[in-house]
Amino acid sequence: MNIGIIGCGAISNQYMIGLNKHKKDIEVTACADIDKNKADQFSKDNNIKTLSVDELILSDEIDIVVNLTPPLSHFEISYKSLKNRKHVFSEKPIALTIDEGKKLFSTMKENNVYLYAAPDTFLGPAFKKAQELLSSNKIGKIIGGSVNFTSHGVEGWHPNPEFYYKKGGGPLFDMGPYYLTALVKALGPIQEVIGYSKKTFEKRNVENPEVNYKEINVDVDTHYFGLMKFKSEIIVDFQVTFDVWKPYDPKLEVYGDESSLKLADPNNYDGDIFIFDKDLYQWELIYSSPDSQNNFYRGLGVVEMVKAIKNNTVSEDELSVPFHILEVMCALDSFDLESGWTKIIQQF
Ligand SMILES: NC(=O)c1ccc[n+]([C@@H]2O[C@H](COP(=O)([O-])OP(=O)(O)OC[C@H]3O[C@@H](n4cnc5c(N)ncnc54)[C@H](O)[C@@H]3O)[C@@H](O)[C@H]2O)c1
Repeated sequence: MNIGIIGCGAISNQYMIGLNKHKKDIEVTACADIDKNKADQFSKDNNIKTLSVDELILSDEIDIVVNLTPPLSHFEISYKSLKNRKHVFSEKPIALTIDEGKKLFSTMKENNVYLYAAPDTFLGPAFKKAQELLSSNKIGKIIGGSVNFTSHGVEGWHPNPEFYYKKGGGPLFDMGPYYLTALVKALGPIQEVIGYSKKTFEKRNVENPEVNYKEINVDVDTHYFGLMKFKSEIIVDFQVTFDVWKPYDPKLEVYGDESSLKLADPNNYDGDIFIFDKDLYQWELIYSSPDSQNNFYRGLGVVEMVKAIKNNTVSEDELSVPFHILEVMCALDSFDLESGWTKIIQQF
């Protein structure tokens, strides 16, 4: 199947490394970017065609559009592509509102095409191992869990950090999908949420000398705390923030009535898993995969999508996950204290 990449920025090179490993099944044949210089550079580096965004979406030679634009453009690019009967793999989040999600979902159904989305880290070895441990009852019956992603934002390293502080950015829509997807894959759907959020800093100073602006006005909340009740009655607390000075040390723990499991960071495809040893009263390493190799695995979701389309094994459950994550994020983001727990209606 032929792939066209739209958005030739920081992450596109990682995708290319991953996708090039699967040339038997898929081939990236074209790229497009709103900034033609970026598309031209990417096409030169990878020996593929440059097209305009509209040409790529309309091209008969393209089967799948891989949407690697910033969050604010995800809906528009994916919607146009689905309308033109292209399958889509979108970076997270798939959209920013329930309305947009509904339009994507119905267009996908009407046109008999599929929308898959990042994160796809759950396809990596570390999450597969964690699922195996959880489903074989290693920690007993699951009671609860805890998520904590603390950082001081991306302006220190990203080549274009502005969009992380504009609509569609912020830690909930940017990092939330990794942790929420892992939780939903491991524990099933989320039924109710409570969410609080705030913006601590009105401006961000850009520290990366290669960026040609020095300051970003922050338009979105950057510190979130939530509680989630799952359909299975599991309760999880959830903190994601760009406001906290703390080394990058994310936490995703699941608690059972027999023991606890510390999963690998779902922002990566691999990592270490620890189980709590009740007798020694300490965490024990139970699984270790090599140092982070995101370049190696990036694009795994596109490969899975191609396999499922070819083998006619696309599952409704699989398709609904990114839409469910969108519902949960929207509910956390618009939580109203007066109304109490917000029910997730599962509209998709
Ligand atoms: N950078 C990372 O480490 C990373 C990791 C995982 C996921 N992501 C996700 O990948 C996506 C892209 O991130 P990035 O870091 O590559 O950003 P980036 O800003 O480096 O690249 C985005 C590219 O999209 C282009 N673009 C913007 N609007 C467009 C439009 N309407 N049509 C066509 N092209 C458009 C820009 O010109 C730019 O080249 C985001 O959703 C981000 O959350 C990034």
